[in-house]
Amino acid sequence: MKIHDLLIVGAGLAGMRAALAAPAQLDVALISKVHPVRSHSVAAQGGINAALGESDSWEAHAFDTTKGGQYLGDQDAIEAMCREAPDDILELERMGVIFSRDERGRIAQRPFGGAGFPRACYAADRTGHAILHTMYEQLMKRGCHVYEEWYVMSLIMEEGICRGVIAWDIVHGGLHAIGAKAVVLATGGSGRAFLTSTNAVINTGDGMALAYRVGAPLEDMEFVQFHPTTLKDTGILITEGARGEGAYLLNTLGERFMKKYAPEQMELATRSTVSLAIGQEILEGRGVDGCVLLDLRHLGRQRILERLPQIRQLSVEFAGVDPVESPIPIRPGAHYQMGGVKTTIWGETPVPGLYAAGECACVSVHGANRLGGNSLLETIVFGRRAGQRASDYSATVQPRALSDAAFRREEAHLRQLMDNDGPERAWQVRDDLGKIMSLNLGIFRTQQSMTDALKEIRTLRLRGESVRLQDKGKIFNTDLIQAFELNCLVEIAETIVAGALAREESRGAHYRSDFPKRDDGKWLKHTRATKTPDGPQLSYAPVTITKFPPK
Ligand code: FUM
Repeated sequence: MKIHDLLIVGAGLAGMRAALAAPAQLDVALISKVHPVRSHSVAAQGGINAALGESDSWEAHAFDTTKGGQYLGDQDAIEAMCREAPDDILELERMGVIFSRDERGRIAQRPFGGAGFPRACYAADRTGHAILHTMYEQLMKRGCHVYEEWYVMSLIMEEGICRGVIAWDIVHGGLHAIGAKAVVLATGGSGRAFLTSTNAVINTGDGMALAYRVGAPLEDMEFVQFHPTTLKDTGILITEGARGEGAYLLNTLGERFMKKYAPEQMELATRSTVSLAIGQEILEGRGVDGCVLLDLRHLGRQRILERLPQIRQLSVEFAGVDPVESPIPIRPGAHYQMGGVKTTIWGETPVPGLYAAGECACVSVHGANRLGGNSLLETIVFGRRAGQRASDYSATVQPRALSDAAFRREEAHLRQLMDNDGPERAWQVRDDLGKIMSLNLGIFRTQQSMTDALKEIRTLRLRGESVRLQDKGKIFNTDLIQAFELNCLVEIAETIVAGALAREESRGAHYRSDFPKRDDGKWLKHTRATKTPDGPQLSYAPVTITKFPPK
């Protein structure tokens, strides 16, 4: 069996950055269920934060991040991220990322919600695309092996230590054991647990589920961010950069309604505030066909074409609206999972040999509500850190022969999936899950809605385990991959609901109509979900507070 020094699961920004952080002499491989440049990071639009401006500072960035996250973020992690951001951006530029420039030729920065300073560096509205392609070039230059279009079914655990993965080769068909001295999970989020989502269809919480199944706790899963502006019907992201450039939000009366909800910050309030405001407008009958309007017309054609070309293209192609001439119909949609596999600021999970970074991890920089532009930053800073620490660890591990127990287990699992004769296909159960989550765990939550959801999800778990595969073949069997993904989604959804039901307060993205106030006395603490045969078991852990006492 092949044993790599470092095996990284997921080849988006966090995974690639982890790989590039490893010393050149290490044998580093990435494994991804899609070609690396199809990873969801490619869809990131608006920007990546760093305090580069002369009158900005990492402390101001850290304060905005802490406050935006309603004091639930761990301040040691936030400090590491904000301090290291400027150097990491310059390193990206040295790798070849073509950031947009200001009139003096420096990296341009635009305002984003909840930020006290224009801090988001960008490449027009294709920032993720620009960074991902550049890093992929670096990865190729370095000669990292990529298991392209392979699906990781489980982690190989021996004596409580992670020693590799069992994976399915999607293109050729076939089950393989791949050994590794250290494994880094960088598989992104789980937004596809919701029906209306900005996430790619591949974002099914696979890495979170892999870690959860071997005993790693998931932290703060109830905090799911709803991006305020996603395109009507499809849920495609319409970047916050549009509001950063000056776009207005209008209701059916043509009012800039944000003046009622956040009179100072207006459209650039934090995402949870803007999403709740939009939800309220729609609820009270001032929406437009289930949406509100995002008006860019006053920015002028030239600026739209230069700064927001993709937004224009997406609006024309997917909503039949040219923002140069008409406002775009938008509504909030699931966008980002603030929670994930609990890690230290070096990406270590409690499972020896297992690391995590990026959206699948919870190093806890976002707290209850992430600021726009901090997600790309997190992938770069903590991808690098996890790659460094996992490399150090791998140097201490002696390679050894592994038992074939994990392989045999997955072989039996595969056989059972292929033989299932249940009445449903995976997509049917997945659609139901999405509807249940969007209806009951959206921007407004109540005890009743979440109790209903939990009951339904427990049934979905059984339905998910018995789905019927129509394709019994080995080559590019997407039916099979959907069955794997479905079980991850259901497992992750259960942790979201359990955490949300227990948390009797409103904080950031978790808004409960029945507990509308933040309650620091009882709830300034992290939720941890650990897997048991009966579902997630919850425990709580203190928040790390250093410079900024909660206000
Ligand atoms: O609106 C956006 O461009 C999204 C950015 C982010 O989620 O960080």
